Amino acid sequence: MPHVVTQACCADASCVHACPVNCIHPTPDEPDFATAEMLYIDPDVCVDCGACVGACPVGAIVPDDRLTTGEQVFLDLNAVLSTPSRPYPPQAPVPPIRRLENDRGRAGHPLRVAIVGAGPAALYTADELLRQPGVEVTVFDRLPVPHGLARHGVAPDHARTRSVTDLFTLIENQPGFTYRLGVEIGRDLGVDDLAAHHDAVVYATGASTDRPLDIPGAGLPGSMSATQVVSWYNAHPDHVDARVPLDHERAVIVGNGNVALDVARILATPAHSLAGTDISPVALEALRGSRVREIVVLGRRGPAQAAFTLPELIGLASRDDIDLRVQAPDGIDPGAASDRQRSLMLDCLADVAARPPRPGSPRIVLRFQAAPVEVLGEDRVQGLRIAATELTTRDGDVRAVPRPGTEEVLDAGLVLRSVGYRGVPVPGVPFDPATGTIPHRGGRVLDRPGGSEVPGAYVAGWIKRGPRGFIGSNKTCARETVDALLADANAGLLGRAGAAGR
Ligand SMILES: Cc1cc2nc3c(=O)[nH]c(=O)nc-3n(C[C@H](O)[C@H](O)[C@H](O)COP(=O)(O)OP(=O)(O)OC[C@H]3O[C@@H](n4cnc5c(N)ncnc54)[C@H](O)[C@@H]3O)c2cc1C
Ligand SMILES: NC(=O)c1ccc[n+]([C@@H]2O[C@H](COP(=O)([O-])OP(=O)(O)OC[C@H]3O[C@@H](n4cnc5c(N)ncnc54)[C@H](OP(=O)(O)O)[C@@H]3O)[C@@H](O)[C@H]2O)c1
Ligand code: SF4
Ligand code: SF4
Repeated sequence: MPHVVTQACCADASCVHACPVNCIHPTPDEPDFATAEMLYIDPDVCVDCGACVGACPVGAIVPDDRLTTGEQVFLDLNAVLSTPSRPYPPQAPVPPIRRLENDRGRAGHPLRVAIVGAGPAALYTADELLRQPGVEVTVFDRLPVPHGLARHGVAPDHARTRSVTDLFTLIENQPGFTYRLGVEIGRDLGVDDLAAHHDAVVYATGASTDRPLDIPGAGLPGSMSATQVVSWYNAHPDHVDARVPLDHERAVIVGNGNVALDVARILATPAHSLAGTDISPVALEALRGSRVREIVVLGRRGPAQAAFTLPELIGLASRDDIDLRVQAPDGIDPGAASDRQRSLMLDCLADVAARPPRPGSPRIVLRFQAAPVEVLGEDRVQGLRIAATELTTRDGDVRAVPRPGTEEVLDAGLVLRSVGYRGVPVPGVPFDPATGTIPHRGGRVLDRPGGSEVPGAYVAGWIKRGPRGFIGSNKTCARETVDALLADANAGLLGRAGAAGR
């Protein structure tokens, strides 16, 4: 009777050190941790003690006798990912934690740190800092409510994942934590003001905008970013009143990452099933009147290069109220998988492709090797011209090249680009436009990529690493940044007098 890691896993590794027999992998010190789409429990080693359940902030670990029908598949997935069993020590190695050496609290001078942004990266940074005595953190966010994409990005039907905000509430309730919400740094308060009143500033501003899709017609009404739609259904103040046309039976989403899957799933879910979730009432009302019956999710490359992750695909494939289809013009080649996760992904896609259709249910089509060419329409979107692609490999990268003479038109009333996010510069803070991130070395801000360190300035989360990874990925990221900050404090490099002079 082992315990099982299920879909909501956000890879923060909190369970790893709770386990008395080290059977949850990969652990943060193992090389595949950085690319893991979820952790898994070795069923042959698990002693069913349940200690990991309380450690998981999103309720992703379930005893096998409590799995729902849709979750049963994760029992096999945990077992398959655990095979062959890897050699490991009796306990997962605990990373060394740096201590703040001079007890500044007792000397009457707490170490004051400003954190810009109140998303997961900021909250994990605050948590790491507040483990030290004599530290005070002030967390600024431009929005009146905290938690960044954990509140305004995570889909409303992913209730377990959204419950990570309970962990954030515990962090906020620690002594030494203060919020200043509704304050945009660089507009309402300058970075020099911030530096003058704090010993260190950590930028955790995320990736606030979407990447553009540079094709003709992309500006037509009805051609929108997935970011706008996600923000609309999650009641983000910037987009709560967005107009999302749902009056045509087909919508097309360009890009096949997890955001595209989230949006496709919400558009395909009957409104009454979303009624008990955190969805915005405005969006729910619009979805009640929706005429959308088919959502086509376009991937320009093949199934082996799909950007969505295996747990999300499994979650979607287990829905019995959605007719999930796969269109892969060159077939699904199991030999194209780069690793075990990919191989399981291709197996899952092949199973879905072989299923009989489910007439009567809203349809999601995962269409591969199809690139957008032009959004069509006169005063609003009427369709999308697409081209079939062939795949070529250059410098180890698989690229999609449109095949001449293969263009076709998909009629649609809504075309969404879901081609990734991008960081936005904060005035006065170094920014690398090539990557959309703040240049850094191990979390210390640099004045330019590869340049010199800016004293007292640090960075964490998506604005440090780019818009990739899960909520829990920001925990390891924040730990690296805080380690650098504490090392600098111990070396006497931080202090408000110095900061004011910067
Ligand atoms: C649509 C979507 C759904 C997702 N769903 C999941 C999921 O189900 N599970 C999962 O594990 N991961 C999910 N992720 C990934 C996860 O949300 C990110 O890994 C995480 O939110 C990144 O954290 P962050 O703190 O770096 O950025 P953010 O969460 O974006 O937080 C940045 C914060 O900074 C604030 N800010 C920006 N500029 C300023 C400024 N100048 N002054 C003050 N404040 C500022 C913003 O308002 C925001 O609150 C999803 C991502 C997206 C886009
Ligand atoms: N449930 C979850 O855990 C969850 C939910 C949502 C988001 N997230 C995470 O958040 C991160 C961001 O997700 P995302 O979906 O925004 O981004 P993403 O995973 O980077 O996917 C971007 C998609 O856009 C495509 N694309 C880019 N440029 C294109 C172009 N010019 N034409 C056509 N297609 C183009 C990419 O195709 P190529 O691959 O061919 O470039 C890819 O399919 C990811 O790490 C994701 O896992 C997690
Ligand atoms: S139930 Fe106990 S033994 Fe099994 S994975 Fe969880 S902590 Fe480890
Ligand atoms: S979310 Fe964290 S604690 Fe929960 S299963 Fe995943 S890695 Fe473990």
